[in-house]
Amino acid sequence: MKVIVCRNAEEAADLAAREILAALAAKPDLVLGLATGSTPIGVYSRLIRAHRERGADFSRVRTFNLDEYLDLGPGHPKSYRAFMRRHLFDGLNVPEDRIHFPPAEGSGLADRCARFEDEILDAGGIDIQLLGIGSNGHIGFNEPTSSLRSRTRVLTLTAKTLEDNSRFYSPGEFQPQMAVTMGIGTILDARRIILQAFGAKKADAIRAATEGPVSSFCPGSALQIHPRALFLLDPEAGARLSMREHHLRARENEETLRREGRL
Ligand code: GLP
Repeated sequence: MKVIVCRNAEEAADLAAREILAALAAKPDLVLGLATGSTPIGVYSRLIRAHRERGADFSRVRTFNLDEYLDLGPGHPKSYRAFMRRHLFDGLNVPEDRIHFPPAEGSGLADRCARFEDEILDAGGIDIQLLGIGSNGHIGFNEPTSSLRSRTRVLTLTAKTLEDNSRFYSPGEFQPQMAVTMGIGTILDARRIILQAFGAKKADAIRAATEGPVSSFCPGSALQIHPRALFLLDPEAGARLSMREHHLRARENEETLRREGRL
């Protein structure tokens, strides 16, 4: 696990976008795991800019989104499919049939969740999984007490998550109580993971995820057992880390080695 406390959210988005674009240059049929929420928007705008201004080609990329609200159809403006169209897919050239979401409508959901997992395997597995984190430590929609080896499934959102997300709904508007999410086990199968977190509201979750015990009570802590998990934080999200100074020093040391061409 590597933790970088960046100067600000812009720098974190620059670093994440740079990693993705370098991976794309090395592997044009890159398989990306994607997240929603306000956190990854900066990365998405940078990928769109790279596509428009520098010709970054996403035509062979496959994408798998982490999660979706149960029963919000793809046309619903608050569905994650609509979010991804607005913030990423409308600006890139990923062919429609290479974009995947977990099943969130209709019946046979358990079987279709298993099929979603098979689709990830058929694509060769996820190369880079982008993540945010909930203020209660959730990743995707894996709420506290989700099994550390869970797979894609339907679940009920906690009161905390409903409250955090209620800002997107007007009073009296239908707010989904259930969702479908990749499991923690699904996420851990990705070759690389980049988790971004911004703002003081995330400081406790980040401390629990990186310095607390590995525990299903903080799903983000599962990343501690992943060989290539990168946390990109702004100073507010990293403010409560007891290892903060160490992470800053480690970054400087690595930059020196990189400048010397040794890393
Ligand atoms: C939702 C999503 C998560 C996301 C979280 C944080 O619950 N399912 O994937 O990480 O929100 O959202 P934000 O980035 O807006 O803080």
